[in-house]
Amino acid sequence: MKIALLQGGLGQEAEVSRNTGKAFEKALVALNYDYVVIEADDNLIPKLISEKPDCALIALHGKYAEDGTVQGICEYLKIPYTGSGLLASALAMDKLRTKEVLSFYDIPTPKFAVFRRGEDDLESFDCSIKAPCVVKPVREGSSVGISIVDEQKDFKAALELASRYDRHVLIEEKVSGPECTVSVVKDQAFTPIEIRPKQGFYDYKNKYTKGATNYLLPPELSDEKIRELKDLALKVFKILDLHHYARIDFMMHNGSPYFIEANTLPGCTETSLLPQAAAHDGVDFNQLIDGLIKNARLDYEGVV
Ligand SMILES: Nc1ncnc2c1ncn2[C@@H]1O[C@H](COP(=O)(O)OP(=O)(O)O)[C@@H](O)[C@H]1O
Ligand SMILES: [Mg+2]
Repeated sequence: MKIALLQGGLGQEAEVSRNTGKAFEKALVALNYDYVVIEADDNLIPKLISEKPDCALIALHGKYAEDGTVQGICEYLKIPYTGSGLLASALAMDKLRTKEVLSFYDIPTPKFAVFRRGEDDLESFDCSIKAPCVVKPVREGSSVGISIVDEQKDFKAALELASRYDRHVLIEEKVSGPECTVSVVKDQAFTPIEIRPKQGFYDYKNKYTKGATNYLLPPELSDEKIRELKDLALKVFKILDLHHYARIDFMMHNGSPYFIEANTLPGCTETSLLPQAAAHDGVDFNQLIDGLIKNARLDYEGVV
């Protein structure tokens, strides 16, 4: 069995992806898999055609990767791939559509509005959500293009920034926290991790600078709240039709969990959140990666 480890990619998270790739490669060596590392650049498709792997191990994040694009390529080339299918990936990448779908199922999520570049006018846009709010590109990751707007005078600049990264901008009511993320693998939700940046919110710098954020595992929450978070994460996982693994972010608001977003290709170095939560609950990194590979599939598998 030959594995193609896909890393890099065309989005803002290419560097982050190479770190995940390195960690995956170490696991592939330890697990004795035959593998090839493929840089997911403009030539991804010809590379996949010539390598003919039995499985694509996706170490990519964000645009062109977490959003169904690479999944679509793999579906067309009939190469089983790790993680969620095309539609689930595309849906979870789109924070607006995800919130709309989850609202239908009464999953609590902060109140929201949308700004559509090219349709809504930046000068006259009258948003139903006022500061304090959070302004984010609908499809991005690693906090790229996100602003916390505490004063209304900063709202327009935040809209401008976010709309550089996507056509649609999500404006969300700011909730207080604490922030908690729940890692799901197969049918199991691992112990949540509480995220406490030392300064400000969980932005790019606080995500990737060593020591900038405190992580609490287990979180400082009652057993009952932890169970509530885990149950909610499993519910979201099922509603979005995610496959095998994901990391689902919540913020506590007046003591109850509110859904923020689902990450279908979460950061996966050994010190990343999902592997940490797995290790805490007894699943080591190599086991985790082996599980990804063994559960790789095509969305259309088993149908005519
Ligand atoms: N509604 C909100 N209220 C308060 N903080 C938020 C809210 N939404 C996001 N944040 C903060 O911004 C960070 C990034 O937002 P998120 O939606 O998870 O985007 P990304 O996909 O870039 O990780 C979160 O981890 C959290 O710290
Ligand atoms: Mg996030």
